[in-house]
Amino acid sequence: MKGIGEDLMQENGNHLNILTTVLEHAYEGIVVVDQQGVITHFNQAYSRLKGISQQQAIGQNVTDVIENTRLHHVLKTGVPERGRLQTISGQDMIVHRIPVWEGETVTSAIGILVFDGVSDLYEILEQIESKEHTSTASAPSVNRGKQPTERTNFDTIIGRSEAIMNTKRIARKAAKTLATVQITGESGTGKELFAQAIHDQSPYADGEFISINCAAIPEHLLEAELFGYEEGAFTGAKKGGKPGLFEAADYGTLFLDEIGDMPLSMQSKILRVLQEKEATRVGGLTPYQTHVRIISATNKNLISMIEEERFREDLYYRLNIIPIHIPPLRARKEDIPLLLATFLENVCRKYEIEEKHFLAESISILTHYPWPGNIREMMNMIEQLVSLVDEECITPDKLPAKILTENSTVLESRSSAFSFLEKIQQKKQDHEKELLITALKDANGNKAEAARQIGIHRSTLYEKLKKFDIL
Ligand SMILES: Nc1ncnc2c1ncn2[C@@H]1O[C@H](COP(=O)(O)OP(=O)(O)OP(=O)(O)O)[C@@H](O)[C@H]1O
Ligand SMILES: [Mg+2]
Repeated sequence: MKGIGEDLMQENGNHLNILTTVLEHAYEGIVVVDQQGVITHFNQAYSRLKGISQQQAIGQNVTDVIENTRLHHVLKTGVPERGRLQTISGQDMIVHRIPVWEGETVTSAIGILVFDGVSDLYEILEQIESKEHTSTASAPSVNRGKQPTERTNFDTIIGRSEAIMNTKRIARKAAKTLATVQITGESGTGKELFAQAIHDQSPYADGEFISINCAAIPEHLLEAELFGYEEGAFTGAKKGGKPGLFEAADYGTLFLDEIGDMPLSMQSKILRVLQEKEATRVGGLTPYQTHVRIISATNKNLISMIEEERFREDLYYRLNIIPIHIPPLRARKEDIPLLLATFLENVCRKYEIEEKHFLAESISILTHYPWPGNIREMMNMIEQLVSLVDEECITPDKLPAKILTENSTVLESRSSAFSFLEKIQQKKQDHEKELLITALKDANGNKAEAARQIGIHRSTLYEKLKKFDIL
């Protein structure tokens, strides 16, 4: 007769067998690591993909076997990461990373490769997209509207500096009217973000916000894109024609991004539409009315482009009715700590990982960095840090090399400026000392006389003699 214990053992043994079989024959690649990140299971599919045997992999640290893995991270955070993209052996893969909890602790983690390449996924996505867009296909550089949930408003624009508050104040005022707004600012300062916020507060807020990057669309397509075209207007024109962005943005906002890159021929056409408030489709005969708020943006100096005859002056004045300039990040350094903290929190939440924070010294370095790419550069840096730094606290050594190099250059120049000041100070003192010695000599050691000669009080002379250790 078998005891209860034996029964249980047999049952457990059966479960284990079943699990091992499933694991071994799964189409997906499966890897299991223990609490230390050491591989305990590595199935055939994974072994085939990596081109190393199961025996070779088992017992090794997962970071030495699978590039870009985050299983060691999941062991620490205990937070599952599902449907993430990971490049393994040069292929983009979809992975799940699952922590295994026993009571209060994470005892192991499982990594699963879902597809043997994301190409299948892209194909599916493309199929869905082509179904959705058969009637309203648009160029990739055109964004036709946003879902209400993603809507940007002035609260999305982070910053409490006087510079940004002032810019927001002007933008809010402009938003309430339908006046044409021109936003200038260096790359990555938030021109599009401001444009969206203006739209949100605009009388046309219920209409579409459509943005078009004038630099990214070939000249011959730009006109058709903006004003639409009629059937048969050109070879390849769609049956039934296609409405233009001016039509799509009717009673909404049309954001003409990188307006400085708009070809001169198009500038004339846009000017006419802005003046006459009507446009005609390419190949069309009857004009249609437009009721569109125009916001344009550029990081180019349009005034010098006008001088070089590369931008129409009359169009410039049409667009520049309310100018809004967004200052670069280095001109509003006081916003940097808040931006860093907010973006770091957002990115950690997005990846469902434990919150991280910057060490005060890191914030200080980042505050002194000039941020040539402005807020976009900062957001990219944070994405990079979150995926590369495992620790909860981001210390200065983890910051990108570019920023650290810049910092040491600043420190060096500061210390050389400091030593320059020190040298001047030293020279002044040497000179003063010499003056005192000469005056004393001339007065035959009579201190009262020497003080009189130099024109200082006797007590001051005594102090100075003491300071320079004379007599
Ligand atoms: N003050 C801010 N608060 C929060 N996010 C910001 C802020 N400014 C910019 N961003 C974010 O920074 C990124 C870059 O902003 P945006 O695309 O609006 O810049 P841009 O000036 O249009 O840049 P470019 O000239 O390169 O087109 C965006 O993701 C935007 O949401
Ligand atoms: Mg932009």
